[in-house]
Amino acid sequence: MSAVDELQSIERTALDELGGADSSERVQELQITYLGRKGPLARVGKSLGGLPVEERKLVGQTANRVRGLIEAAIAEKLAELDKLERAGRLEAERLDITLPGRMPPTGRLHPLTEVLEEIVDIFVGLGFSVAEGPLVETDYYSFQALNIPQDHAARSMQDTFYVDTGAPQPYVLRPHTSPMQVRLMESAPPPHYVVVPGVVARRDEIDANHLAQFMQIEGLAVDENISFADLKGVLEVFARQMFGSNLTVRMHPSYFPFTEPSAEVYVSCFACDGSGCATCRGEGWIEIMGAGMVHPNVFRSVGYPASTTGFAFGMGVERIAKLKYSVNDLRTFYENDLRFLGSR
Ligand code: PHE
Repeated sequence: MSAVDELQSIERTALDELGGADSSERVQELQITYLGRKGPLARVGKSLGGLPVEERKLVGQTANRVRGLIEAAIAEKLAELDKLERAGRLEAERLDITLPGRMPPTGRLHPLTEVLEEIVDIFVGLGFSVAEGPLVETDYYSFQALNIPQDHAARSMQDTFYVDTGAPQPYVLRPHTSPMQVRLMESAPPPHYVVVPGVVARRDEIDANHLAQFMQIEGLAVDENISFADLKGVLEVFARQMFGSNLTVRMHPSYFPFTEPSAEVYVSCFACDGSGCATCRGEGWIEIMGAGMVHPNVFRSVGYPASTTGFAFGMGVERIAKLKYSVNDLRTFYENDLRFLGSR
């Protein structure tokens, strides 16, 4: 085989093997095999000196061309492999930036707090101010000053927690927020326009509609010429802002020792417009609070003339929240289940 033929066969096998190389390591091996000091091109180069001048020129040129071709093929193959490796690495390290991030849990107001604030806001909008009173209250403010004497049967309307303080005066966990009517009137002459939100406690059997501890909002308005119509008007404005602008308020005769006359306050059912549904238990009306004109005996106990006029009302916050959010069971407000508390 002539030297030129041999060079051409080297060229073919080298390019062939390079074409099949699948890693840069393999390319480097081939580079050493074909272009290294012990490779076939080097061998041909060493034999040049023994060739006649004409042939030496031809073989030399061919050898240079073949070396150039192999070098170019190596460079091309390395570039191609580099590109592939880079793409593979990118694929392996792929980052899915469309995954939602991890949200830190954020707090929010308890539904009862929201409802309490909403109720208070409505009365503040009507010109009432806000006061709070003690949870542990004397028997005097809880009952006696509210026209409920020591052995009066009306005490059994509230199954009370008595607190043994050792003091001569009996203390109770207040069974309603009404004691604040007395404290407020004792503290200043009329006029009074105040609402009193607060926790109350009763020795009640706990079920879907009763809790032993719950919240009330008391209202008291004492001024000249306050009438039952004022009471109804105020409660109507409240109920419409709370539950819906087209409902009707109905007052139903009732009894509380500290109001005369007394009333249970109903609103026409905001869920069915009064035609009767599950929310109003088919009644068309929903009771939302107790109310009445302040009893003259209460005015007497705070040293006001018995001819003073005023109204009072008291509502349960849990009950209002239960209606507003269509909650079946009052206990769910106190179970701290975030699925419930966060579900509005
Ligand atoms: N204190 C009464 C109760 O707890 C509610 C009420 C307040 C009624 C004020 C009339 C006037 O049931």
